[in-house]
Amino acid sequence: MTTTSSKPTLRLSDALVRSLEQVKTSLLKIVPPESELMAETIQHSLTSGGKYLRPVITLLMGSATGSFTKSLEESLIEVAAVSEMIHIATLLHDDVLDQSDLRRNRKTVRALWGNTVSVLSGDYLLAQASLKLANVGNIRIVSIFSHVLADLCDGEVEQIKTSFDLETSWDSYYKKSICKTASLFSAGCESAGVLNLLPEEQIQRLKSYGRNFGISFQIVDDLLDYVSTADEMGKPVLDDLRNGILNAPVLLALESKTLTTEEKAQLRALIQEVFLASTEEAKEKPLLHIRDLLIQSGAIERTIALANEYAEKAIEDIRFLPDGEEKTTLVDLLKNNLNRRQ
Ligand code: FPP
Ligand code: MG
Repeated sequence: MTTTSSKPTLRLSDALVRSLEQVKTSLLKIVPPESELMAETIQHSLTSGGKYLRPVITLLMGSATGSFTKSLEESLIEVAAVSEMIHIATLLHDDVLDQSDLRRNRKTVRALWGNTVSVLSGDYLLAQASLKLANVGNIRIVSIFSHVLADLCDGEVEQIKTSFDLETSWDSYYKKSICKTASLFSAGCESAGVLNLLPEEQIQRLKSYGRNFGISFQIVDDLLDYVSTADEMGKPVLDDLRNGILNAPVLLALESKTLTTEEKAQLRALIQEVFLASTEEAKEKPLLHIRDLLIQSGAIERTIALANEYAEKAIEDIRFLPDGEEKTTLVDLLKNNLNRRQ
């Protein structure tokens, strides 16, 4: 596994591409808001060129674990659409909390229409997601996604609670990552198993795949904040520390055996300098210095190894699935995540 700039290609089967098209159609067919303004913000959010990773995983899990009747397939597509709607809603809220003006190389709803409209647009998407879930009519799946919403809030609060704190622990890091990111990944996987009436033990393994994938995804996100560029990411880099967040590479550097005690003290002092800086400009020099120290500490390689560890756990989770195109793609997605640049 490398973090070179070559973009890995991932082949999705024609059937999966067709199902994904149905997910996109389902998203664009949600009940339009009466407000013209919100119709615009929802359209802006739904067409922002996301990777559709959560729906892709959900759809793959569905076809890897059963042959669907027409009505089950429709349910799976709706559940996949719900996973993307909740994801987009979290970003609309998150951009307000993080005061982010750029995402996927486009101005955010908050930058274009303001914080209140961004929050309400997120709320609207959540309401429409609930409606879709009601139409699917499976109480367990409603419960799965209700738990996701609670997890998302918990994760965000855990992050706020520990931000600007140099003593942040790995426990807190994992709690935040599982709630903020992995929970939604695992919900789609679990729901696919539920729709397919799998034995509970197998449903739990699908859920675990999603959870381990989500953790690996979050760790790679953390890494990209240090090794990617704003151009590739479509949003600013070195942003986690600007927002007071000690992410995986920083936590690993702080416990690095490669850095001397003095260098680690210097790293801590530089992080404090970023946290205490009175202007955004004043953060730039220490941030670049921190990035150099992270590279020197071996934290970049160790972060990649950590993301790989969780990818391996996820592969183990789906070992029981029958060999086939879907299983191969579920493994390839994990590898693709480890090599992504955005
Ligand atoms: C992106 O994080 C944000 C999340 C994955 C989740 C945000 C969750 C909330 C705002 C809680 C409430 C939301 C709902 C809809 C229940 P990031 O800031 O690390 O990533 P970024 O760099 O892409 O912004
Ligand atoms: Mg953010």
